[in-house]
Amino acid sequence: MCGIVGVVGSRNARDILMQGLEKLEYRGYDSAGIFVTNEAQAAHLVKSVGRIADLREKIGMEVTGTSGIGHTRWATHGKPSESNAHPHQSADEQFVLVHNGVIENYLEIKREYLADDHFTGETDTEIAVHLIAKLAKEKNLSTADAFKAALNIIEGSYAFALMNVLEPDVIYVAKNKSPLLIGLGDGYNMVCSDAMAMIRETSEFMEIHDKELVTLTKDGVLIQDAAGNKMSREPYTAELDISDIGKGTYPFYMLKEIDEQPAVMRKLSQLYTDDAGNVTVDHAIIDALGQADRIYIIAAGTSYNAGYASKYVLETLTEKPVELGIASEWGYNMPRLSEKPFFIFLSQSGETADSRQVLVKTNELGIPSLTVTNVPGSTLSREASFTMLLHAGPEIAVASTKAYTAQIAALSFLAKAVGQAIGNEAAAAFDIVHELSLVAQSIEATLSEKELIESKVAGLLSDTRNAFYIGRGQDYYVSMEASLKLKEISYIQCEGFAAGELKHGTIALIEEGTPVIALISNNPKVAAHTRGNVSEVVARGAHVITIVEQEAATTEDDIIINNVHPYLSSISMVIPTQLIAYYASLHRGLDVDKPRNLAKSVTVE
Ligand code: F6R
Repeated sequence: MCGIVGVVGSRNARDILMQGLEKLEYRGYDSAGIFVTNEAQAAHLVKSVGRIADLREKIGMEVTGTSGIGHTRWATHGKPSESNAHPHQSADEQFVLVHNGVIENYLEIKREYLADDHFTGETDTEIAVHLIAKLAKEKNLSTADAFKAALNIIEGSYAFALMNVLEPDVIYVAKNKSPLLIGLGDGYNMVCSDAMAMIRETSEFMEIHDKELVTLTKDGVLIQDAAGNKMSREPYTAELDISDIGKGTYPFYMLKEIDEQPAVMRKLSQLYTDDAGNVTVDHAIIDALGQADRIYIIAAGTSYNAGYASKYVLETLTEKPVELGIASEWGYNMPRLSEKPFFIFLSQSGETADSRQVLVKTNELGIPSLTVTNVPGSTLSREASFTMLLHAGPEIAVASTKAYTAQIAALSFLAKAVGQAIGNEAAAAFDIVHELSLVAQSIEATLSEKELIESKVAGLLSDTRNAFYIGRGQDYYVSMEASLKLKEISYIQCEGFAAGELKHGTIALIEEGTPVIALISNNPKVAAHTRGNVSEVVARGAHVITIVEQEAATTEDDIIINNVHPYLSSISMVIPTQLIAYYASLHRGLDVDKPRNLAKSVTVE
């Protein structure tokens, strides 16, 4: 959700910024821009609506420099346009700034401090750069002091990188609630929203904490807290491989990430067990969760759906009720909690602002918490009591796939570890490593049927306006995720429905040719009932595709997947639905990896 890059030093800033922005494009692709300058203060500002490729086309060879800042935007205030694109400049063009986040009091600032200023766009960011310029001029402040004074006035979430054209060898940086990192080079330093942006240049990074002010030069990083005290900070090495962030020969990241899932399942088995095959979840987590009387899972979107898909294994093995909370709701409407709650924050990025809002509250209440995330060192990971990592490798496609399945697998390891610790028999009997290896095989078998899956949906979904996924029990939870995936990348209005609930109203929407995809895992308690619901929609003209686990399948079924352990069936059941979304998007001629209106890592509330 908006990406920031910056570099100061003696290298080709334009190329470093552009390569960084390309890696950050998944965070927003409404518009983009760069500002570069050099010691002679020869400054260039170039902005463009659309993708980074559009910006690249506008940048001529004259745009050179040794330092600069860049931005890729996901619009919050003001439509995607060149005037709303970042970097923004003060009216006298002395200050240039990029921003990620939302300045909540921007209208008050405009009224109170900037009533006479002329604005070129409608963004909250433009107010920030005008404010800094005004404070610097009227109070005769240095850039750092004007920036600090502005930060004292600004309320909301922000990651800022600021330059003064008269100081071309300095970038000023600050953050509050929005992610931002310092990248350390030899003779140059960088700033970025995500280590991925600068991993070509360095693997050494430094965290910035909320409300700190960082002054970045080619040889130095000065970090000061809000009171001006100098802070010391150890750098860390980002465990990212450049090859992990490329597409290789794949046409889209999403397909690559779908294909990576068997490897992720095997990696999780290796990393969450010891040589003797015992599950190795941190004892402190097991103890804290063991003492709880209820587990609360807080998440958004796909991660929320993964929470539901993990409820069954968690409840069965830990013997504790599991309640799900939509992060954006719970931040403001926290329901009455049990006496000894334990919170799990499920988040691929570890940066989702809605989830963080809840974490801030639970920390205030002293409630123990665990973040399950794919990104080590992310905000939710740093601020929760404990972290478990997903080890899925960078997920770049906006539509989440491998993080969903990794979340269910990781929570299954947690459930097994806690269950064993409390003497739960089902936990002792659950050979998770073996069962997960069968899941990996099942995924591989489904992946080898891509052509079949494509042929089933190519005609059906290429021009429909709506569709339904139905299922019962675990299959209902997978339906929720399957429909979200289809919606976000194919723009088909799709509902994931509890199959038995359909007849209580929604069946009115079924007409001749309506696509209905039924998920039927091998659960004798519900499979026959779901078949009954399939008959009901067929009788009303629906075009049904069935996805069925082998032991429950007949020769009439469309897509048959290998049986796996019921605790893990959501993992193998979701794979064909990921492929269905992928092929639907492809056949509708859409950009699979960058669906309209969406951004990965949603860092605004
Ligand atoms: C959908 C998707 C989003 C995210 C949601 C939460 O494919 O990716 O729904 O799941 O924005 O993001 P994280 O998991 O990073 O907290």
